[in-house]
Amino acid sequence: MNTTPLNRREFLTTSALAAGALALPGCASNAQATDAALDTTSDTSGGGTSGGGAGAFSFVHLTDMHVTTRRHGVDGYRTCVESVMALDPKPELVLMGGDLAFDGLYSPKATFAEQVKIYKEVSDSMGIPYYNCMGNHDVLGWNARRKVETTDPDLGKKYIMDALNWEKPYYSFDHKGWHFVVLDCIYPTQEDHGPGYEARIGDEQLEWLAYDLGAAGDRPKIAVTHIAAFCNKAQIKGDPNIPGMPAGAVIRDTAKLQAVLERHNVKALLQGHTHRPEEFRWHDVWYLTSPAASGAWWAGDFTGAGPGYTVLNCHPNGNLTWDMRPYNWQPQLDPADDLERKRNAELKAKRQEQARLRDLERAGR
Ligand SMILES: [Fe+2]
Repeated sequence: MNTTPLNRREFLTTSALAAGALALPGCASNAQATDAALDTTSDTSGGGTSGGGAGAFSFVHLTDMHVTTRRHGVDGYRTCVESVMALDPKPELVLMGGDLAFDGLYSPKATFAEQVKIYKEVSDSMGIPYYNCMGNHDVLGWNARRKVETTDPDLGKKYIMDALNWEKPYYSFDHKGWHFVVLDCIYPTQEDHGPGYEARIGDEQLEWLAYDLGAAGDRPKIAVTHIAAFCNKAQIKGDPNIPGMPAGAVIRDTAKLQAVLERHNVKALLQGHTHRPEEFRWHDVWYLTSPAASGAWWAGDFTGAGPGYTVLNCHPNGNLTWDMRPYNWQPQLDPADDLERKRNAELKAKRQEQARLRDLERAGR
């Protein structure tokens, strides 16, 4: 039985400390979120073990930045980070949702290393504490198309964890009376081709999670995973042939994870990976998939949303509200990006047709 004590700020990868900014009322624009009567007169920040003792602050969920030198992606990520830094009130921390680098699965090690280095440099420049979550593209070579030897000592999660001074792939921390858990859903497997992965939390981590959340008592709690516990891919595509739990898009042991989150009153599980924003509520837990910071891998918005992130507001009464926001970045494709140009053109044509039909229908028969 693993009853590891709470692990505060162990994975803080920037030395900058956040200012004690308070969330302001009126910035909760998510109409579906619980409407909280904001208590801005009592700042109980800095501790507390119940929702009533929690402090007020905002933070950002930034996911799927896929940092790359291709498609001017480095400039794109800098623009994203500058947008976060300009937020008012200033977020007190950032949860990085995974797929931090463009890719370690299929890329040469030197290319992946450069992407990780740039990710760290640009993220550090925020001057805001940030916490890393493991994405499938953040592991080196766990794929049949790997560009490294399976004997490489940096294979798997080791390279990025060493480069980012990241001690454990899953962990938790507290901030102003709120409890945060960062999960690792990239579960190692052995395939015919060698090391691989599947989307799974795994029994060992689930047991750790249950006791970690238990130890947090009545504190309001938020968890983050890269691959989703809920993903409505089949419904979005309108395709009855897509399975309800597509491999790679939904955590295999989602039912076990949901049960743990539910019984410990976790407010929300923040998700990424699909580059499609979604909001889903089940048994009092919000499952929120943020827009990708890279949009469609810095090539547009044909995945369903342009580049963006989620700003979340933690209220003193323990309520959570949020706002999924775009930031201003125009895709700059490389000459070889014919497929992406085609997808953008298809989306543009679809939008034009939608506008034509809307005008027709507004004009009446
Ligand atoms: Fe991913």
